Amino acid sequence: MVSPLLLTSATLAFTTLLFLFYRLRVQSSQLRRDAEAKKPKHHDLNASFSEPALRLRAKLIADLPTSIISPEDRRLFEASMNAYWAQQACEVPPVCVIQPRDAEELCRAVKILKSDFDQRCRKDGSQDDIDNGIFALRSGGHSPVVGASSIQGGALIDLSLFNEVTPAPDGKSVVIGAGCKWVQVYEALQEKGLAVAGGRNSAVGVGGLILGGGLSFFSPRFGMVCSNVIEYEIVLADGSIVRASETANPDLWRVLKGGANNFGIVTRFVVRSFPSGNIWSGFLYMPSSQALKVLTSFREFLDRGVSDDEGKVYDEHAAGPLACFTYLQALGIQAIAVALTHTKTPEGGKTWPACWQSSGFPRLWRFWSTCSVKSLAAATDEMSVLNPPGRRQKFATTTIKNDQATLEAAHQAYRDAITSIRERNIKNMSWTLVLQPMLPAWARKGNPNVLGLDTSTDEPLVNVSITVNWALSKDDETVQRITRAAIEQIESFATQHGTGHRYRYINYCDSWQKPFDGYGQDNLEFMKVVSRKYDPDGLFRRGCAGGFKLGLCDGGR
Ligand SMILES: Cc1cc2nc3c(=O)[nH]c(=O)nc-3n(C[C@H](O)[C@H](O)[C@H](O)COP(=O)(O)OP(=O)(O)OC[C@H]3O[C@@H](n4cnc5c(N)ncnc54)[C@H](O)[C@@H]3O)c2cc1C
Ligand SMILES: *[C@@H]1O[C@H](CO)[C@@H](O)[C@H](O)[C@H]1NC(C)=O
Ligand SMILES: *[C@@H]1O[C@H](CO)[C@@H](O)[C@H](O)[C@H]1NC(C)=O
Ligand SMILES: *[C@@H]1O[C@H](CO)[C@@H](O)[C@H](O)[C@H]1NC(C)=O
Repeated sequence: MVSPLLLTSATLAFTTLLFLFYRLRVQSSQLRRDAEAKKPKHHDLNASFSEPALRLRAKLIADLPTSIISPEDRRLFEASMNAYWAQQACEVPPVCVIQPRDAEELCRAVKILKSDFDQRCRKDGSQDDIDNGIFALRSGGHSPVVGASSIQGGALIDLSLFNEVTPAPDGKSVVIGAGCKWVQVYEALQEKGLAVAGGRNSAVGVGGLILGGGLSFFSPRFGMVCSNVIEYEIVLADGSIVRASETANPDLWRVLKGGANNFGIVTRFVVRSFPSGNIWSGFLYMPSSQALKVLTSFREFLDRGVSDDEGKVYDEHAAGPLACFTYLQALGIQAIAVALTHTKTPEGGKTWPACWQSSGFPRLWRFWSTCSVKSLAAATDEMSVLNPPGRRQKFATTTIKNDQATLEAAHQAYRDAITSIRERNIKNMSWTLVLQPMLPAWARKGNPNVLGLDTSTDEPLVNVSITVNWALSKDDETVQRITRAAIEQIESFATQHGTGHRYRYINYCDSWQKPFDGYGQDNLEFMKVVSRKYDPDGLFRRGCAGGFKLGLCDGGR
């Protein structure tokens, strides 16, 4: 007779292998997967566009005939539309796409947008025309918030041709075009034995990630991605092009470190680079029964940040742990993936880096480990497997202290949501809770930013995010409700127990969240002053309505 215990473990092993198969079967380059994903087509849109939008398009075509793509240019238009990561964004057609080839063309386009904006603002009576903005701005198109880098019936500025990666001869910095994907940056730098603090996911865009802050494998050593930008080249509301650095326009230099698209259009970043070779990185895959042990090992590892008893201090080369708890509705099963990284090139051998070896993780029961020595580009490609493109996507986030009860409450909120997902049978929904460390000490490294993370104590924080994808638009509202309820459940527990934190990472916020409120009053006031100085009429606050806005109470006028 087969013992029930054996039967249970066999079923567990089988379902987790099924899970792994489901996750890894598409493991090719993320960029190729993006390109192959099924995306919508757009036909005969003229009737849906407003008169002012069609007039704006005509003005743009007259001045920049070879850089404007209209819906009639089907192939080019669809290619540009389908470059978004999230399906919902692909479904929002602009009146035209502006695809400038260089900064000079971009300046001309901005001048046209500005005069159109001024004209619409001056018009007597209602402001309806402009309430939804007149243009949107896109670099890598990885924001899942509809309207953040897409616009229904407005002009879309597509920065994909700003794709240079030029390392300085001394190896200390690199010029990166705002339209690059991180994989292009890493591959170009790899040849020279260099790296930068950048995204951990190969397919994500450079522009949005850097302007929102950015967490990198190298953040424990060098700080947030934005804090490693030496200089920005930016097109301002009046169509002029300026540089922002520690010495040129230093106020602008600082607000761009977290201020997103509120100040202008960044065309290129000069980022500090450093020597780097292969790294040690990968995932541990475990059954969901390990959840409590994963939470405990996670908390213990972060506590090294503040106490160094037993000589276990936080190793600056350690990135993670990134703990992902996933439920797949299509299979009806849960599993856990824990990402561990060490950015120092190992001396050889197959042993784990000491900081991870001495943590709780190697002793947890697992099905599989992909931890090994690999290139940075390969490590970032592996991260992207957990976030397949071509589906409806959503992120939401909150920040908590490194407290066992609060971590468990976050996990409980994730599990409670699974009940609703099952009841409503949301087609092909993948529901993931991601926990990752955020040490205030990291936020103090590099150049000052406006994120407001550096003012808190040394207490380690935990960045909690929920990432969801699903198949059908009919479920959009239900998914939004479930996600919001889970975040609010975690925040309410944290508030009651004094373990919450005001910070919300802008690039992981859902549309209803208010990331700038978490930057702190001083930073917010500073950003508003700088915004009025460089964009007195509010072109980027109101004309470019998408993304999170500073919300000046004068409406930007
Ligand atoms: C699969 C996946 C993995 C991720 N991993 C990480 C990670 O490891 N670390 C991390 O920090 N974040 C990560 N993110 C979040 C990521 O930072 C955001 O999605 C970011 O917005 C992506 O930038 P983008 O240029 O592709 O986005 P876009 O959608 O093009 O832009 C996002 C916002 O930034 C604005 N913007 C973009 N470019 C410019 C510019 N040149 N000038 C002014 N404004 C601009 C846009 O108007 C828009 O509001 C990840 C996201 C995804 C989908
Ligand atoms: C849409 O409008 C443009 C410009 O006004 C015109 O050239 C084009 O033929 C129209 N397309 C369709 C399908 O009517
Ligand atoms: C928070 O987590 C998200 C999700 O991976 C990440 O992209 C982001 O950079 C993190 N932000 C901070 C400030 O830790
Ligand atoms: C769900 O995923 C399966 C497997 O990838 C696919 O065959 C099916 O069409 C998807 N269902 C929907 C509603 O998209």
